[in-house]
Amino acid sequence: MNQDFPIRYVNPVFRPFLNPACQREAAYGDARREILSQSALEVARAEIQNWPGYGVTPLHALKALAHQMNVASVHYKDEGGRFGLGSFKALGGAYAVARLLCQAVGERLGHRVTTADLLTAPCRELTQAITVTCATDGNHGRSVAWGAQLLGCQCVIYIHATVSEGRRQAIEHYGAKVIRTSGNYDDAVRQADRDAKSIGRYVISDTSYEGYMEVPRDVMQGYQLMVEEAAQQMDEMPTHVFIQGGVGGLAAAVCGYFWERFGNARPRVIVVEPERADCLMQSARNGKITAVLGDLDTLMAGLACGEVSLLAWKILESGADVFAVVSDQAAIDTMRLLASPSGGDIPIVAGESAVAGLAAAIGVAKNASQRAALKLDDRSRLLFFGTERDTDPVLYAQLVGRSSEDVLA
Ligand SMILES: Cc1ncc(COP(=O)(O)O)c(C=O)c1O
Repeated sequence: MNQDFPIRYVNPVFRPFLNPACQREAAYGDARREILSQSALEVARAEIQNWPGYGVTPLHALKALAHQMNVASVHYKDEGGRFGLGSFKALGGAYAVARLLCQAVGERLGHRVTTADLLTAPCRELTQAITVTCATDGNHGRSVAWGAQLLGCQCVIYIHATVSEGRRQAIEHYGAKVIRTSGNYDDAVRQADRDAKSIGRYVISDTSYEGYMEVPRDVMQGYQLMVEEAAQQMDEMPTHVFIQGGVGGLAAAVCGYFWERFGNARPRVIVVEPERADCLMQSARNGKITAVLGDLDTLMAGLACGEVSLLAWKILESGADVFAVVSDQAAIDTMRLLASPSGGDIPIVAGESAVAGLAAAIGVAKNASQRAALKLDDRSRLLFFGTERDTDPVLYAQLVGRSSEDVLA
């Protein structure tokens, strides 16, 4: 570790757990290809690249940070500008809405329907009569609401008790009705599901469970477009990807992408969660899906999930190399580090849930035995997905001490 490293963690929590079930030698295989595949990504790409405002998000090379961490390179894929929604989630929820509407309207008309058809007669009236719904801690709901508005259907979004007012308004901005529930995220998921069944709405969830697989699979498939962009933007393949985990859909998309293409030569995938919402880590420790109960109290709202997505787990259980947790304080320190970088790196606005991966990597980089365990050295090329910008601007300014406008000025 270089002496000039600028972060001094107040409460560094980073407990890497090497996944004993990881099968680096195993082929990706057809069962996993049923979940996420190159061919399904082609379909997603063709759809999403046609949406208004599509553009490849930037991949920043943070040279000074790489030097400070004593690794060869650090690349940060900044999803803050994705479709003007502030997070990578725009790729998943809205894509699943598009797929669902085409299927539902197509079934009613008895022929294949494209998203372009949805907004014109005779599809338009059928589309308008459909309501999509989901539970969210913010970003997924924003994506679903945006997709619903773009494609002309109705939308009802459930938020749980601790989702901020700013995030609520951001969803309402896209024309959705927002319902606040008591309890945590997983309770909101159940209520959205119950109400959908009784009222006849379509659930667009980013998490899969028994009997509900198709939509969350589309969500994850949409995320892979981001991974593909990053892979194409890098001159050399990364050796390590530190990726934050909520229900695991994003991490599975990342892991599956590299596993399918590069097999055993794929980068090491380190899945990082908040210390009090570590359902993926607990599932790996127990060798079976394990829920984390309680209020899942963490600042990293997008990662405050207590239940693993079944489909994501099918990829991560033997695809992820390491599971880890970070503290809220480490996340805040990392947000500040990105906002005020040293050594000429570009300032980056990163929200609370965007930085867990980088926070963990910094923790590893500072610890000789963890470096060795994760095979991190001065030849390592690290890739991070900065999954959101200041999706709650008030909270961001409180935590970083400056607004995003000031950071970027
Ligand atoms: C900004 C951000 N990053 C990461 C995640 C984690 O994604 P997943 O729940 O698929 O693991 C989320 C989920 O909402 C998020 O909002």
